[in-house]
Amino acid sequence: MSDGLNWVKATTLDDLWEGDFVDVEVDGEVVVIFHRTGGELRAFQGMCPHQEILLADGHIDFDEGTITCPAHEWQFSMDDGKGINPRGCRLFQYDVRREGEDVLIGVPTDNRLRRLRHEAEDA
Ligand code: FES
Repeated sequence: MSDGLNWVKATTLDDLWEGDFVDVEVDGEVVVIFHRTGGELRAFQGMCPHQEILLADGHIDFDEGTITCPAHEWQFSMDDGKGINPRGCRLFQYDVRREGEDVLIGVPTDNRLRRLRHEAEDA
């Protein structure tokens, strides 16, 4: 394919119902995948950019569309992975698509960093 992505099966819709999420390992990185109400899928790096804590252990609010890390409560948007509090950080966002019952994650083939880090001054 010429989209610069290697599409990898990460899970199935049977294991990821609407209003639910899973974290899986894809090509050596933890990825958290959300199945939002209405059917939309979103996928981000699964480790917090602050100190690499599992975001799937945090507070996931589908109504607000937020992901809150369990460690120091950094909060991210489920729309695009951008930091809500604090701002200036973000989660790496993966392309995601479904193929029948399978959920596929697009792993960039250009060796781009897929686990973004953010240096916090005060934490
Ligand atoms: S590790 Fe996630 S907020 Fe500190």
